[in-house]
Amino acid sequence: MKASFSESHLERHIPSLVSLWKQKESGAFLLDKEYKSVSSSLLSLQRGLTGKRDLIGVNYMEDKAYLGAYLLYYWPVSYLQVSYAALSVRSEIAALCEAAARESRPLRILDLGSGPGPACAAVADICLDALASCEPGDGSLVQKNCAISVTLLDQSEKSLSRARRLFERDFPGVQVTTAVCDFERGTLSSAAGFDIIVMSHALNELWKGDAGFLEKRAAFLEKCLGALTPGGFMLVCEPALLETSRSLLSVRDLMLERGYDVKAPCASCRNASGAFRCPAITAGENQTCHGEVTWTPCEPVAGIAARAGLDRESVKMSYVVLSGAPASEKTPAATRKPLREISGRVVSDGMLNKGGRIRFVICTGKERITVSAKQGDPVAKRKGFFSFRRYDTVTITNPEIRGDRNNVSYGIDAGTEIVHVPFAVT
Ligand SMILES: C[S@@+](CC[C@H](N)C(=O)[O-])C[C@H]1O[C@@H](n2cnc3c(N)ncnc32)[C@H](O)[C@@H]1O
Repeated sequence: MKASFSESHLERHIPSLVSLWKQKESGAFLLDKEYKSVSSSLLSLQRGLTGKRDLIGVNYMEDKAYLGAYLLYYWPVSYLQVSYAALSVRSEIAALCEAAARESRPLRILDLGSGPGPACAAVADICLDALASCEPGDGSLVQKNCAISVTLLDQSEKSLSRARRLFERDFPGVQVTTAVCDFERGTLSSAAGFDIIVMSHALNELWKGDAGFLEKRAAFLEKCLGALTPGGFMLVCEPALLETSRSLLSVRDLMLERGYDVKAPCASCRNASGAFRCPAITAGENQTCHGEVTWTPCEPVAGIAARAGLDRESVKMSYVVLSGAPASEKTPAATRKPLREISGRVVSDGMLNKGGRIRFVICTGKERITVSAKQGDPVAKRKGFFSFRRYDTVTITNPEIRGDRNNVSYGIDAGTEIVHVPFAVT
């Protein structure tokens, strides 16, 4: 199968990652003993970040073995997660690139908690692609490859130094600024005027163990949003674990309460009477929301995963894209049940129920709605229902109304129309 935009761009960075790790020029492959040592550090790092989480709050990127495992394994994973998430706002990125090119200035990207820079690299690759098709003022910025400037902030100087070297190698001409900061101590740079801010897998590490962590994270994001240019956005990506994902969704709700809007992945976040709470949060404490894209990992990720005994068949991530200025316009009131049209994002895998029906959960932004069809049903199959995947955008018009007045559910019949836009297809 043809590699996606995100995968093919990721693979161009692999030789640099391996060279940064080996501290010398080399190919993309590791010796067996190198694979073994990296996979052992990876397992220890993974336990510290996702199990008891005892590495959170510790400056673990300063540890050579952990930073090495991060470069060779987590860097590619984070890159893909952010790339797929950012592609869901590709038209907004194109508009920001056009505005920067018109003003003959570089597009400015800020990466918070950048580590060795995978999120910033993912966004930079999408922006460079968008800039290549812009009609810039005089074309000179793009031709000189200095159409982008990036600022990376982190508490770890070692990881910032790897990011600087990676950008020097793989993004020649891109202006790179780095600074050591502790976000919890408020030492955020006072720089402003960023078109895109990205924060990947870092928000969940802030204010661990603090009872007011959600409010503190929301206040932090609000401060960062103030550094955006008009039309700019902030992409916050987090691991798709239950706790980190739900915390992100709770912070998202706080940002909506403060008047900010979510551009993606949520279908619609408010009506005339106010913001909707995230339906995954209201659905109960075991519910969450994340995107997933299948992936056959390249080396050295595949070899490290195999030796560490980790399944790596996809990337999963929870993310929100927040817009800079508090929302002023309200969207029209939501329609009442039973719905004639269901428009939103698929937030589940296809699940087979006891009645032999495949059902998908679709989040409209206001609520989660279940739509089902008998497994293998030829009408539903012809209309593409069984090819739904997590985070695809769908509009189902004239669904079959099933159940009764008190418990409406929906199906697919001959009169149903489906518009289906797959997630992360480029
Ligand atoms: C899991 S890594 C994520 C790195 C990269 N953004 C990615 O997506 O792969 C979390 C990063 O947040 C940084 N970090 C954690 N707490 C921080 C704090 N209080 N101030 C600044 N950076 C912090 C860590 O040093 C680390 O580089």
